[in-house]
Amino acid sequence: MASETDDLLRRLTGLQEDAEKAVAAADGSKSLEAVRVRFLGRKSELTSILRGLKDLSPEARGAVGKAGNLAKSGIEEAIRAKAVTFDRVGRVSGDDPTLPGIRPPRGHRHLIAATLDHLIDVFRGMGFSVARGPDVEDDYHNFEALNMPEDHPARDMQDTFFLAPRTLLRTHTSPVQIRVMESAPPPIRKVFPGRVYRRETPDATHSSEFHQLELLYVDRGVTMRDLKGALGYFARQVFGSETRVRFRPSYFPFVEPGAEVDISCFQCRGKGCRLCGNSGWIEILGAGMVHPSVFRHVGYDPDEVSGYAAGLGIERIAMLRHGVPDIRMFYENDLRFLTQF
Ligand code: FA5
Repeated sequence: MASETDDLLRRLTGLQEDAEKAVAAADGSKSLEAVRVRFLGRKSELTSILRGLKDLSPEARGAVGKAGNLAKSGIEEAIRAKAVTFDRVGRVSGDDPTLPGIRPPRGHRHLIAATLDHLIDVFRGMGFSVARGPDVEDDYHNFEALNMPEDHPARDMQDTFFLAPRTLLRTHTSPVQIRVMESAPPPIRKVFPGRVYRRETPDATHSSEFHQLELLYVDRGVTMRDLKGALGYFARQVFGSETRVRFRPSYFPFVEPGAEVDISCFQCRGKGCRLCGNSGWIEILGAGMVHPSVFRHVGYDPDEVSGYAAGLGIERIAMLRHGVPDIRMFYENDLRFLTQF
């Protein structure tokens, strides 16, 4: 099976190379059209490979389908680029100033930026506005005010890049909670998007630089029920209307109680599959009720107000939604990957 897939992939690479040579050799629109028919027409080898996809195994279908579509768009692009070098009667043009200009390829938003915008839009729809904080933080905002005094073992949960003894690259977006509450009285209903940094060894699901979106809602009488309602709505908007959320008790020093939040697997609808490791559930974020000592650090009275906070990893959500197998693909700037989204 693997060798059949390899064989098809080799044929596709060969086809694209042959097509590009033929395009380069075309000396007028007639011969270019003949190249198009030969390589992209109904009876072409490429079309027959794409038609045969349905008979392949699911894994082979994914790999060959992707390679086939890439080969097809590569050949189409080569033909388009060549076509603009011909004049109106289809001959190779000299410097004809009346010809239309060559349009440069247009870029588009990176998948991480687009995912972040989409998530922010969902929360805007729930009345949240956006605030931002600095990437370079001090120890007080990143740790101490979040109930992690010096020597607190929870500091090890997020290995840190220090720039100077008490200056660091923020390890999460939670310090923006402190900055926002320091600068305004309650109520607060905001999201904080941004880049965060951790001393991690990169692997398929971990990067040393990634993005989070933090949620903070503080008012009189906010309860865990509000948190569950908000996250349930968010999950249904982003992952589909049948998605359910599940809270598992967990520890974060700046919330009490704290939870890790799972969504029901949108691929198998909770039955168990590879994506969810057969559990039917996928973890997407950390959350909880703001700890009273965090309120005291910012001068709020914990007997007067309560609130919830949550933090989610943007790359992990984009990976889930788009079936991206390795987080490092987001940062390699390989156009074959980026142009798929
Ligand atoms: C936090 O960073 C907490 N600040 C979240 C929080 C906020 C909890 C408010 C309670 C209240 P955690 O370390 O679990 O928690 O990271 C949150 C999310 O970031 C994870 O669920 C995951 O999606 C993502 N994440 C964590 N480490 C990495 C990494 N190395 N690479 C990519 N994504 C990561």
